Amino acid sequence: MTEEVQTGSEELVLAFLAEAGDEYLSGEAISDKLGLTRAAVWKHVESLRARGYRIDAVPARGYRLAAIPDRLGPLELHPLLGTHDLGQVLHCFEELGSTSDRARELAEEGAGHGEVVIAEAQTAGRGRRGRTWVSPPRRNVYLSVVLRPDLPPGRAAELTLVASLAVCDALRQAGVEEAGIKWPNDVLVSGRKIGGILTELAAEPDRVNWVVIGIGVNVNARAEDFPAELREEATSILIERGQPAPRALFAAALLATLERWLDRHAEEGFAPIREAWRERNVTLGQDVVVRTDGREIAGRAEDLDESGALLVRTPSGVERVLAGDVVLARTRR
Ligand code: BTN
Repeated sequence: MTEEVQTGSEELVLAFLAEAGDEYLSGEAISDKLGLTRAAVWKHVESLRARGYRIDAVPARGYRLAAIPDRLGPLELHPLLGTHDLGQVLHCFEELGSTSDRARELAEEGAGHGEVVIAEAQTAGRGRRGRTWVSPPRRNVYLSVVLRPDLPPGRAAELTLVASLAVCDALRQAGVEEAGIKWPNDVLVSGRKIGGILTELAAEPDRVNWVVIGIGVNVNARAEDFPAELREEATSILIERGQPAPRALFAAALLATLERWLDRHAEEGFAPIREAWRERNVTLGQDVVVRTDGREIAGRAEDLDESGALLVRTPSGVERVLAGDVVLARTRR
């Protein structure tokens, strides 16, 4: 796939239609907004249809984007992106070992803030703690974002929580309203995992050089796309809503949401992130077992502290957990 796309008037027509969602836009409104003749708008609509976009045209109402091709290439993604940095440089692949491996290489080679690697399939998708991330072709979204944050290394973990807010919000916008976050950054629906985040970084003693945030969201995976042992533990937008979601729209919305939360974090620090995370979490107030540093801590998850650590009340006092895996006693997941 090609990696970069110029935004021409066809892409602008598509972006304008996508922004309108289910609403019809008159040919006149499109031509006025984009400075095109009505004939040019029609020509672009025809050419988008030839590329697989379904565009309804109704006399006296106008045009409506009814369906977009289910591909995650630059031609599909670029016009949908309402971001200033994230995804403005896109590296799209049919298949990769891991988008995070490729993003790390690009970061080492000097990739800029916001470059995104996205793949239709991963053959070696990685989860946290050495686990595998199941990555069947053309079903889900697998992407990794290179960031160059102005942060000391000690605060880089905050970005993981920022990303969890973005995944949770993008899922809620896509109609999965019950999505919630299990500390630190698993996104669950009724105890089943729908999205995960893997954060990796390179740092010098006083500053972060790069951060790669790898995000996997199960969008259109069916139960049979997961190995038998994961079928009870994993879910997808398709399974939850009973209908597929357009992956390009979802990926674009996810990047826009991530950018908004990253901007907020850069401008206001961790406090608003902590507040928003607490509103969306499914961990606090629960009895948990946390696996961390080769030991297990059992207790009641009490709060997220001002640096993102989980505070767990145990019979011997409050433990501050910086990294680990949480199992919720209620759901045993
Ligand atoms: C987890 O919950 O364990 C984290 C899962 C992260 C998966 C994503 S998919 C895109 C990126 N590439 C990878 O190899 N992993 C992350």
